[in-house]
Amino acid sequence: MSNAVLSLPLTLCSPLQAAREVAQEIADLIRERRAGGRMAVLCLPTGRTPLGVYEELVRMHRDEGLDFANVTTFNLDEFLGLAPEHPQSFRRYMRERFFAHVGLTPAQTWIPFGDVAPAQIEAHCREYEREIADAGGLDYALLGIGRNGHIGFNEPGATRESRTREVRLHEVTRADAAKAFGGLEFVPERAITMGVATILEARRIRVLAFGADKREIVRRTLEAPVGPQAPSTYLRGHADVRLFADEAALGR
Ligand code: GLP
Repeated sequence: MSNAVLSLPLTLCSPLQAAREVAQEIADLIRERRAGGRMAVLCLPTGRTPLGVYEELVRMHRDEGLDFANVTTFNLDEFLGLAPEHPQSFRRYMRERFFAHVGLTPAQTWIPFGDVAPAQIEAHCREYEREIADAGGLDYALLGIGRNGHIGFNEPGATRESRTREVRLHEVTRADAAKAFGGLEFVPERAITMGVATILEARRIRVLAFGADKREIVRRTLEAPVGPQAPSTYLRGHADVRLFADEAALGR
């Protein structure tokens, strides 16, 4: 198949509209799975971009009784070298922004451990893949895009076949994180990320990109040759993928 036909369906909308639409899809999935006596398996991101989705899901839990008892979540990634309680750990982000507000327990929510001993990292990554497989695979992956085209922490250079593993963070990723960490010297150099192949096996993928900072990478995601120079291009051609982007991110 040539790159030209590998398209990425697009919805132009505001961040609020995207949050509502994605949260509604997730709620529908959870309810449909519950009716069938099954779990809904979600793949979740951190960053600023998904916050509206989490807020809307929290609202649905509070106001509409959306029940997360039949939900399992797998986060995309975690910084290596951070204790679970570190203010910038993704484990803490998820608990404070989402899990604690919808009744999701530690037993339902998988995030790579940032403080795993170096000798255990490989085994930890293999176990993460096994847990995803044992859960029946990812039903719904929600993704943001880094300015360098990363998905999760699959940085430029990541292959389409990559699996959950330890990675070295790209300089753009570390620079973008520097403010939150109070300086570049405090940003970890390494991380654990779900692989590109792991993400692409999700049955449904929804990608969010908002704001002018994402304009260039959205253009490349949609138009550049599919390949490791921008891992977000691998999303093109997935059987059920959609990008929600606002006017600023689309340069309109
Ligand atoms: C982070 C995460 C990604 C996220 C991306 C964009 O560091 N590892 O999963 O999608 O960078 O972040 P933001 O949404 O803040 O722009």
